[in-house]
Amino acid sequence: MDMNNVNIEEIVKQVLSGMTGNAPAAASAPAASTGIPKTARVAVLTEKEHFDIKEYPIPPIGDDDILVKVEGCGVCGTDAHEFKRDPFNLIPVALGHEGTGEIVAMGKNVKVDTAGKPVKVGDKVVTCMIFKDDPDITMFDLNKKNVGGADVYGLLPDDDVHLNGWFSDYIFLRGGNFGTTFFNVSDLDLDSRILIEPCAVLVHAVERAKTTGILRFNSRVVVQGCGPIGLICIAVLRTMGVEHICAVDGNEKRLEFAKRMGADTSVNFMNFKGIEALTEAVKEAQGGHLADFAFQCTGNPKAHANIYKFIRNGGGLCELGFFINGGDATINPHFDLCSKEINLVGSWVYTLRDYVTTFDFLKRAKAIGLPMSELITDKFPLEQINEALQTNLAMTGLKIAVVNK
Ligand SMILES: NC(=O)c1ccc[n+]([C@@H]2O[C@H](COP(=O)([O-])OP(=O)(O)OC[C@H]3O[C@@H](n4cnc5c(N)ncnc54)[C@H](O)[C@@H]3O)[C@@H](O)[C@H]2O)c1
Ligand SMILES: [Zn+2]
Repeated sequence: MDMNNVNIEEIVKQVLSGMTGNAPAAASAPAASTGIPKTARVAVLTEKEHFDIKEYPIPPIGDDDILVKVEGCGVCGTDAHEFKRDPFNLIPVALGHEGTGEIVAMGKNVKVDTAGKPVKVGDKVVTCMIFKDDPDITMFDLNKKNVGGADVYGLLPDDDVHLNGWFSDYIFLRGGNFGTTFFNVSDLDLDSRILIEPCAVLVHAVERAKTTGILRFNSRVVVQGCGPIGLICIAVLRTMGVEHICAVDGNEKRLEFAKRMGADTSVNFMNFKGIEALTEAVKEAQGGHLADFAFQCTGNPKAHANIYKFIRNGGGLCELGFFINGGDATINPHFDLCSKEINLVGSWVYTLRDYVTTFDFLKRAKAIGLPMSELITDKFPLEQINEALQTNLAMTGLKIAVVNK
């Protein structure tokens, strides 16, 4: 994955520059805290391409704070970007934001999660964004607002708490005005919980697609790009009851997986020379029809230019492949957009509400037998965090995760 990002750096820098007062609120005696060690191991990126496992004291738990014993955390493209280049100037930093674990202690004021669901010691949780300007936020407040640009555990500057990322034994979730959002997801298995964050990206993309009014049960849909993002896109569409999904990629193994995720046809673009031949192949795969709707799930500008050709007049396109700056794409506005009257939406990250929708999606996906767990191709223990990040960079698997024993 080309992580030559400019936009995300600016966003994260902007967010971090506004951060002050990271220490926890006046701490009181820890609440129910049986079996909690005095110290926790945290993987700290101490230099580019190198984590050290450090041991820090577990801070006293304030009335609004939560201590979570980490079970696992997915490796995100953003982690890989920070690992390789430190574009956010965060070193030393505790990374990992796609994490989940069990509440082992919490302050007396903690009663419910961000969706209003009761929480107790022993519940499994995930974090979402940190809204320090709106610490009382609930999922209902952010119905339309995108969470891109907010703070997140796993990309916080180091401070005297240290337990700020999910690549660790324990993470310390701060209450009060810190603005932590978190959800009780005790009814999901560990693999599903690790997949929540990337899946929320696709729940959001499909919600964006639905605003065009074109995506329907019997739509013919092209999903271009079958990395984790495209594969999950197919799974979300399938769980919604979309029957006709054509997967496009150049990697045969990924295309096979796309079929198991719910695509009914696939096209390997490597087998076709030129956009005309490729368009014919996509059309043929869809019974002689162009697509009603297409999702662009690669970070390749050429792929953005190509996808218009696969869509019928009056059809829709959701472009979500460019989380980072992948360069410019050349299209012909007359032929590709205007004369075809294409309905184009962009999609970026998700809202808090999409996060909650994602929990239901994951349950449905499992119930209809989609092989979601197989998206996690590599699992490493915390002490092999460097290998986990290198495996992500090598792009030999799909989703890489760090899983604690
Ligand atoms: N919108 C968002 O909020 C958001 C969030 C996360 C990731 N993303 C972006 O989504 C993109 C996909 O993520 P991923 O993790 O699946 O990446 P990935 O690199 O694992 O997968 C991309 C896939 O696209 C295929 N591909 C490349 N060029 C192609 C072409 N011309 N035609 C068809 N297929 C082609 C590759 O073979 C690969 O399988 C990335 O660029 C990522 O930055 C967006
Ligand atoms: Zn992520």
